[in-house]
Amino acid sequence: MKVVVIGGTGLIGSKTVAILRQGGHQVVAASPQSGINTITGEGLKDALAGAQATIDLANSPSFEDKAVLEFFETSGRNLLAAETAAGVRHHVALSIVGIDRSENGYFRAKVAQEKLIVASGIPYTIIRSTQFLEFLRGIADSSTDGNMVRLPSCLFQPIAADDVAPIVAEVALAAPRNGIVEIAGPERAPFSEIVARYLKAVGDPHEVVHDPEARYWGGRVEEHSLVPLGEVRRGRIGLDEWLRSSQAGA
Ligand SMILES: NC(=O)c1ccc[n+]([C@@H]2O[C@H](COP(=O)([O-])OP(=O)(O)OC[C@H]3O[C@@H](n4cnc5c(N)ncnc54)[C@H](OP(=O)(O)O)[C@@H]3O)[C@@H](O)[C@H]2O)c1
Repeated sequence: MKVVVIGGTGLIGSKTVAILRQGGHQVVAASPQSGINTITGEGLKDALAGAQATIDLANSPSFEDKAVLEFFETSGRNLLAAETAAGVRHHVALSIVGIDRSENGYFRAKVAQEKLIVASGIPYTIIRSTQFLEFLRGIADSSTDGNMVRLPSCLFQPIAADDVAPIVAEVALAAPRNGIVEIAGPERAPFSEIVARYLKAVGDPHEVVHDPEARYWGGRVEEHSLVPLGEVRRGRIGLDEWLRSSQAGA
């Protein structure tokens, strides 16, 4: 089967491309560096010719509110129009659990991306994932205030990229669900507890504190804002195992 992976050089994209190729599929790992750009439209027509499925794993170079919204809207429009022209029969995209339950600029952009997919008429599956364990560093940095990391009191259930990619590949090879599949890591715990364990393990001396006024990327969150509420597919790699393998350089 021919599959086009948009963002095929990224964290999840590169792992997904490798899994699909191992399974004997014809895979285009698309990125601006390989001459395929969803913002300019460059290379899309040739890349999509004869493809049965497209997996959108692209990410915005800027997370600033306006820039990220513009990225996911423009990228989504160009990609979906090119897929319609090429007759692609399954569009898969990686989104985020809870994007419609709390407000921040990045979540708004992912909601816009999902709306374009649903309206496109192309059979689709949206995978909503919780935060990647690989994103913990970025979360801690964005919440740092002097020698403290201030976090809201909500639950957290991060998932390893090595658990995400096989699910993305499997979903792309299966029939479109025309709906949402939710995935999360094996452990659910308070946000501050997970970030504190991570910082301790990497030798970062910042103190993690609960702050009822703290926001998640600028948006208010409640206890269950970032975790799945219904049926969820769980990964197998918990924080401790992930830390062991990432510290071993795996
Ligand atoms: N971080 C999280 O915790 C989380 C949780 C749930 C879902 N997600 C979603 O997961 C998806 C993948 O995230 P990731 O961390 O794997 O991303 P990433 O590592 O930042 O990779 C982004 C990819 O997008 C490509 N790209 C950027 N601009 C492009 C363009 N104009 N046209 C085509 N490709 C372009 C990049 O290509 P170059 O390398 O050439 O720049 C790269 O391959 C994102 O949509 C994100 O919203 C993230």
